[in-house]
Amino acid sequence: MQSLQEKLAAYEAEIRGFKPADATELEAFRIRFLGTKGIVKALFGDMKHVPAEQRKQAGQMLNSFKELAESCFETQAAQVQNEQTPNGAASDDSSLPGPLLPNGTRHPLRVVENRIVSIFERMGFSEATGPEIEDDWHNFNSLNMPADHPARDMQDTFYLSQNPDWMLRTHTSSVQARILEKGTLPVRVICPGRVYRNETISARAHCFFHQCEGLYVDEGVSFADLKQTLYYFVTEMFGAETKVRFRPSYFPFTEPSAEMDISCTVCGGKGCSLCKQTGWVEILGCGMVHPNMLRNFNLDPERYTGFAFGMGVERITQIKFRVNDLRLYSQNDLRFLKQFEAL
Ligand code: DAH
Repeated sequence: MQSLQEKLAAYEAEIRGFKPADATELEAFRIRFLGTKGIVKALFGDMKHVPAEQRKQAGQMLNSFKELAESCFETQAAQVQNEQTPNGAASDDSSLPGPLLPNGTRHPLRVVENRIVSIFERMGFSEATGPEIEDDWHNFNSLNMPADHPARDMQDTFYLSQNPDWMLRTHTSSVQARILEKGTLPVRVICPGRVYRNETISARAHCFFHQCEGLYVDEGVSFADLKQTLYYFVTEMFGAETKVRFRPSYFPFTEPSAEMDISCTVCGGKGCSLCKQTGWVEILGCGMVHPNMLRNFNLDPERYTGFAFGMGVERITQIKFRVNDLRLYSQNDLRFLKQFEAL
């Protein structure tokens, strides 16, 4: 252990003192420390000779050593690039082409959101959005959730401290209210957006996330329409072989209500960790628009019917691209984001 420590100390001194004159020296540094045959790799390779009881400590030392080498490389690379730009010290020739800016990539959630919206657009839905700061009427009351409704407890709400009648919307169902109050029928909308809940951030929960709401209201809309629409969505998003099933559920704004599962896209239904060995994964809540809600917007439930559904964009992305930690979406880590470059 002592000798490893000494070795690392010497390398660390070298790294901290490193100041490349140009890109060639920088590249030499990268190869020496971080290359596939470099020092970091070799030191990790030597771990197998470290006695088991010292391995944990040695591993931690090596990890921080590796981070030091990487961050030094990144800082120096930025520096070298800076000096090479036409506006920098290395050149004052204004006829040179400007530096190439690296291409950005679309965020995976946006990729999936766009796909969801475009599938529904192909079925005649139009995109609609609403505000993220909502009042009680649009987020709860008009959706058949009056102040004493127990279902309000299912969603931990962020209220605005100045006026608790206002809140960050807890679901995109609020956009249903915004659309219905306009009073023009038929309504066939798909509404993507960000929502907020007072949850402790972990791999499985976040205080903000994204949903996509769907709403179709007209004369003669039936549960069969709901099923076929969602089935088409699933086959377009996950492939023609995907199966769906509906389980009875409860939402205040729909009656009857259901949750929809799809056959697990990872194991094909045999059972794996994504589907918790059941072969099915839940992807959305849905149902027939509750008559009370139609009445709230002066629509006659004897004449008009509708269906609604709401899905989590993170959930669809998790299933589609196997992202299993919600925090990754908002950490802005390029190593994660770049994996979606080609989409
Ligand atoms: N708003 C529900 C939620 O956030 C999701 C939902 C369920 C939306 C059923 C709907 C619906 O439109 O019909 O959990």
